[in-house]
Amino acid sequence: MKFDVSRFFEKDRKERIDIVAKFANLTEQEIQTLENSGGISFEQADKMVENAIGTFSFPLGIATNFTINKKEYLVPMVIEEPSVIAAASKAAKIAKIRGGFEMQNDESYSIGQIQVVNVDVDSAMQKILKSSKEILDLANSKSNTLSKIGKGAKEISCKEIRTDAGPMLIVELLIDVGDAMGANVTNTMCEGIAPLIEKITNGKVILRILSNYSTRRMVSGTATFEKEAVGGQETVDNIILAYQFAAYDEYRAVTHNKGIMNGIIAVANATGQDTRAIEAAAHAYASKNGRYTSLTQWDKDNDGNLVGRIEIPMSVGIVGGIINVHPTAKICTKILGVQSASELACIIGAAGLAQNFSALRALASEGIQKGHMRLHARNIAAAAGATNDQIDTLVKKMTSEGNISINRAREILGEL
Ligand code: MEV
Repeated sequence: MKFDVSRFFEKDRKERIDIVAKFANLTEQEIQTLENSGGISFEQADKMVENAIGTFSFPLGIATNFTINKKEYLVPMVIEEPSVIAAASKAAKIAKIRGGFEMQNDESYSIGQIQVVNVDVDSAMQKILKSSKEILDLANSKSNTLSKIGKGAKEISCKEIRTDAGPMLIVELLIDVGDAMGANVTNTMCEGIAPLIEKITNGKVILRILSNYSTRRMVSGTATFEKEAVGGQETVDNIILAYQFAAYDEYRAVTHNKGIMNGIIAVANATGQDTRAIEAAAHAYASKNGRYTSLTQWDKDNDGNLVGRIEIPMSVGIVGGIINVHPTAKICTKILGVQSASELACIIGAAGLAQNFSALRALASEGIQKGHMRLHARNIAAAAGATNDQIDTLVKKMTSEGNISINRAREILGEL
C-alpha cells in the first residue's frame, strides 16, 4: 500500500498520528500511548534507576521520505534541537531521487575483554589459544538463548599491551549477539570465563568487561544527491570543500561529527538504544588513524552529483534492554518495522548521513541561522499564546523586523 506523507509537517498531531498508525499498523492501545505522550510510569522509572524522583520527556517526531535499501521508512526521532527532523526529511527527499540510501551492516559481534596480569604473556597466549574450545564452550554455557539460535561466543584472541605497570595479557572474546545490543551477555560471559582464564594462565584477572569500541558491528553506506536538487554545481562543490575542512581540521571535524550524531542519537533515543555507547565508539573510530577526522566522506560523481559515504560502529539491539520496558521505544521500533538489529543499524547510519548532508548544505549556502530563527520564532509565537492560525503572521513579522522575542510577540498579538 502507498502512503501519502507529503507535507507531513503541515498536518496536525492527530493527522500525523493517523498516518503513522496506518503505515505501521499500530493498535488502538499503541495510538493511545502515543497520544498520552507515551513515557514510562514513575514505578517503571523507580525500577530502572536509583533514587528516582520522576521522569523527563523529550519531543518525538517523524522524519519522512527515507528510502533505505529500497524500503520506505518513517523514522522516529527523539531530540530537543529544532531543525534536525526537518533537515533529515529534506535530505532523505533529495536522496530518494537517486534511489535513497544504500547501507550495509554485516556482523553483530560484540567484543568482551579480560585483563590478565602477573603472567608470562607469550606462554599464557599459547595456552589460551590451545584451550580456545574449552573457553568458548564455557562462555556459551552462560547463554542458552544465543546458543539455541546458533549465535554466541565464536572466537578468542589475545594481545599484549605494555603499560607503566608492566606487560599485560588481554584476552578478547568475540560474541555474535544477534539482535541484542549484547552488553549484559558479553559481561556475563567475560565474568563466567575469568576463573578458567586464571587457571589456564596462572595469572590474575582484573577487568572482565565489554568493549564499547564495536569495530565488529560496523554500518556503512552511501547516497547520491542530485546536483540540481542540492542547489546546483556550486553548492555541490562548496559542500565538498566544507567536508575537506572537516577531514583536515579536528576543530571542524568535531562539529561536523556532532551534526552526524544529531541524526544518529535522535533515532537511537527513539528506539531505546545505549546512546553513550554509540557516541563513544563513533568518536574513537573518527580517530582510528591517529588523528580525529570526519566520519563521512563527500565527493561528486562524473555528472557532478554529490555522493556521500558514512562508516561508523553501530552497536544496537531490537531485543532486550530498555526496548522490553519502554512503551514508546517499542512503538518506535514498530514504526520502523525493523526485522533485525542490522536493519536498525542501517537506518541509524542513514539518518547520520542525511543529517550531515543537510548541515553541510545549509552551512555551505545560506548558513544555518535563518532556518533556526524561523523555528525559534515559531516557538516564541506559540509561547506568547498565538493560536495555530496566528503563528505564521507573527513569525513573518518578527523575522522581517529582526526582533524575535516574547515581548514583541505579545505586542503583535495585541495588535492582532
Ligand atoms: C548543530 O547541531 C550541528 C551543526 O553545527 C553541524 C555542522 O556544523 O556540520 C550544524
